Amino acid sequence: MKDILARISQTFGPSGREEQIRSQLIKELTALDRDLQLKTDALGNLIATKPGGEKRLLLAAHMDEIALLVTHIDDHGFLRFAPVGGHDPKILLGAKVVFANGTAGTIGREKLKDKEDLKMDKLFIDIGAASRAEAEENCPIGSMAVFAPHFSPQGNCIIGKALDNRAGCTLLLEVIRNLPAVDYQIDFVFTVQEEVGLRGARTAAYQLQPDLAIAVDVTCTGDTPEAPVMAVELGKGPAIKVKDRSLISHPQVKNRLEETAKLLGIPYQLEILERGGTDAGSIHLAREGIPSGVISLPARYVHSPAEIIDYRDLKNAALLLCSFLQHKDLFPAL
Ligand code: CO
Ligand code: ZN
Repeated sequence: MKDILARISQTFGPSGREEQIRSQLIKELTALDRDLQLKTDALGNLIATKPGGEKRLLLAAHMDEIALLVTHIDDHGFLRFAPVGGHDPKILLGAKVVFANGTAGTIGREKLKDKEDLKMDKLFIDIGAASRAEAEENCPIGSMAVFAPHFSPQGNCIIGKALDNRAGCTLLLEVIRNLPAVDYQIDFVFTVQEEVGLRGARTAAYQLQPDLAIAVDVTCTGDTPEAPVMAVELGKGPAIKVKDRSLISHPQVKNRLEETAKLLGIPYQLEILERGGTDAGSIHLAREGIPSGVISLPARYVHSPAEIIDYRDLKNAALLLCSFLQHKDLFPAL
């Protein structure tokens, strides 16, 4: 699983430009050889279907990552940009970024009158271009950059970029690898454009008409020095979502996830995320409403160039989801 995470976390895939990460995921799915039906929809969601009985379960993980979009190039070839997804200028300063064609750049800043002035519009990307023309050729207006790839397994942890949410994609691939025989259909969806408003998940849920949906994504933790208070820690097990800004988990779904974890002795935590949302936020509002829940992977420094997860949480999350699929009353009684 670490090799898969290393490959897919380092693949380029900003929101709305998911071609490279989608082809990498198709390669990984093909290598698993589980005979799933693959389809790419109009927005670019990758759907892998395991046909079964009448009931349908949707499992979603977003494959896009936050990015920077080139908006202006000055005479000296410095690039101004707009954020794609949630970025903090204080975290961007000094980061190395790469474009789809491999061009790399460093994020620099203008002279500030006051340190508090560090806003996005004071930052620029420096690709070392000698002129506007050179910059335009490599990184035209409208092109996107993401944090530069790197991957370091270290003790129980993994430090990397885009673990939000390639860790979730890896989790789904691991579930596919160990897929139990079940009597319902499962649609695994690697969604697009989550970071800009849970967009791919919305059209996926509409077309697939699931009876139940689970999203997998990362969540924040409260276990670093003077972190905002939050009862989630790295290495204490996958988090079962109670609520975030986009969703209040369906009580039966949340309870069944908890029951499964207890039954198997899988460590778990309950998550209340006060900022941010995830794909389940738009899925549960599709059509007549879809009972939905979320399994979250605790992660530090989410949306930074070097996020950290605990590999044991990832393994336990995959075990939890695989076991949940075999719950005897999986589909909520409505
Ligand atoms: Co995110
Ligand atoms: Zn995410």
